[in-house]
Amino acid sequence: MEGSDDSVFKARLTKMLSASKLVKSIHYFESIDSTQDYANSLPHDKSLHGTLIVAKNQKMGKGRIGRSWISPHGGLWMSIVLVPDFSINNLLFTQFIGALAVAEAINEITEISCRLKWPNDVLIDGKKVCGILVDVNLESEKKTIILGIGLNANVESSLINNSINCDFKATSLKEEYGNDIDLVDITDSIINKIEYYYYNLLRTGKSTEILDRWKQQSDIFKRRAIVYDGTQKFSGEVIDLDNNGSLIMRLDDSSIKKIIYFNNVSFS
Ligand code: BTN
Repeated sequence: MEGSDDSVFKARLTKMLSASKLVKSIHYFESIDSTQDYANSLPHDKSLHGTLIVAKNQKMGKGRIGRSWISPHGGLWMSIVLVPDFSINNLLFTQFIGALAVAEAINEITEISCRLKWPNDVLIDGKKVCGILVDVNLESEKKTIILGIGLNANVESSLINNSINCDFKATSLKEEYGNDIDLVDITDSIINKIEYYYYNLLRTGKSTEILDRWKQQSDIFKRRAIVYDGTQKFSGEVIDLDNNGSLIMRLDDSSIKKIIYFNNVSFS
């Protein structure tokens, strides 16, 4: 494989991320079932912090709430393991960090402005270009987080939209930008931004900057939404995010309800 696109990709990625404070090691796969499952299968201790798993394609990519995630060649499929020292309340902030980092990296490289949809979608023109999956492992001695990022970079969105598992309208960066995106450049940019927000949160213990920036890039507020919490269905208007990143809604009976990450929400 020497000199192949894959080895060049890996070598460039390793070189670019060698300056990163966050990434300590890179596991690279041409093909894997799921970078998220692979990260989950590693022994979870402090030494895993900063492990980045990148794959060119996933055969069994995982989406949120048990969905599958179509991951053909050309996309950016990666998971990064974080072993933070911050409070458990902050663990789910990593999903906001992930979405913000991707939106800002896309803007830096293509000048396209993305919008964010709670809890984890990055949209261009109302179509999903990236999803974020956060797995939190509370059992190991150190709490570990696996931040999974699925970016439809250089893929044909029809492959995703034609899949029976797709319940949203997808797009790809290549289709929106009109050109292929350099996967190493965009990975580097995303990692730099995750690093910035992550160490800020760690240093200050404050999530205000992350939430404020997230809110500025989202248009879910004042919109109607339907929430499924597994057994019940609610509808109402989105009014805010609380300090933990949960969604605050005013339901149709005027009661206020807090919606957590694990609920399924659709916005109209
Ligand atoms: C979503 O449902 O919006 C989240 C999708 C997350 C997909 C990424 S791709 C890399 C990582 N590995 C997986 O199996 N899933 C996440």
